Amino acid sequence: MGLRAWAPGRVNLIGDHTDYMGGLVLPMAIGLGIEITGDRGGNWVMLGSDRFEGVAEVPVSGVPDPSTVEPTWGRYVAAVVDEVRPDDGLVGMVHSTLPPGSGLASSAALEVAVATALGADRLDPVAAAKACQRAEQRAVGVPCGIMDQLVALAAVEGMALRIDCDTLAIEHVPFPEDAEIVVIQSGQHRELAGSAYAQRRKECEAAERILGRRLRDCSPIDAEAIEDPVLRRRARHVITENERVDAVARALATGQLSYAGELLVASHASMRDDFEVSTPALDEIVAAARGVPGVYGARVTGAGFGGCVIVLCRPKTRLSGPIVWRGRPAAGASLTTD
Ligand code: GLA
Repeated sequence: MGLRAWAPGRVNLIGDHTDYMGGLVLPMAIGLGIEITGDRGGNWVMLGSDRFEGVAEVPVSGVPDPSTVEPTWGRYVAAVVDEVRPDDGLVGMVHSTLPPGSGLASSAALEVAVATALGADRLDPVAAAKACQRAEQRAVGVPCGIMDQLVALAAVEGMALRIDCDTLAIEHVPFPEDAEIVVIQSGQHRELAGSAYAQRRKECEAAERILGRRLRDCSPIDAEAIEDPVLRRRARHVITENERVDAVARALATGQLSYAGELLVASHASMRDDFEVSTPALDEIVAAARGVPGVYGARVTGAGFGGCVIVLCRPKTRLSGPIVWRGRPAAGASLTTD
């Protein structure tokens, strides 16, 4: 039986470095993603790629340690197979329109495409997202949150997703008809494994221990009680970012695009100054975009340390820079068979 499984990449409109602290996020799926074409059957998952060398070969019974699999991109495949433990194998090809290492969640798209091809569409999106999140953590040891996997699975066309990463409740937030998102690449490739991502997470956890409660239950003034200046800044980012997520969700739902744009710019400043995950190249793209007529706001999207900037603007706004995608929210993962 021939199949086609699709999983989109994402941009995060706002709410970065909040998911792993049980906070709020507001991502949307984009029209770039990963497609797997192939046939189910046999006892092995065997996938080639149009972008990466080698073939990922994994028995349906899984492997003890996906992080040692070669080729390295096959680690994601192996970890998903081990989480899903499908009845049948799969022989096929991975086709990608997503630039890897650009902060557009290409690894989550690969995990979700593999899981979908292996029948995870029968699971509810939250269960499938948890399996893919575990797969990411096991494949490359990044202590990521659940945002990327969940939006790839649960996205709805025309909607951003407000996800409460504590309860995993999803609310669909209509994206205004008279706006679009432009994604501009900084050209700075970034890898989360080995980056300061894990360190940031540890700093946030240390801040919570000092405050004696979860950052999502704190208000900005609480952060000022933290003596260590680095931990104080990290806490202030997470606390204020959670507040901005709800403010942007309300602004988009009521068509207040200028206000939404201001909040994106405030989020960028917080990512730059308090969380220290922006770069001069990202700051420059944001500053340049802000001066363009029709632009409401711009910010780095995703983990930072390079990757992409998103610009919220009127449709067809002329922007310069390497634009990787522009449009309104796309749909989530899908499976078709014939
Ligand atoms: C990466 C992780 C997500 C999230 C973002 C930052 O994309 O995979 O879980 O933490 O960084 O918001």
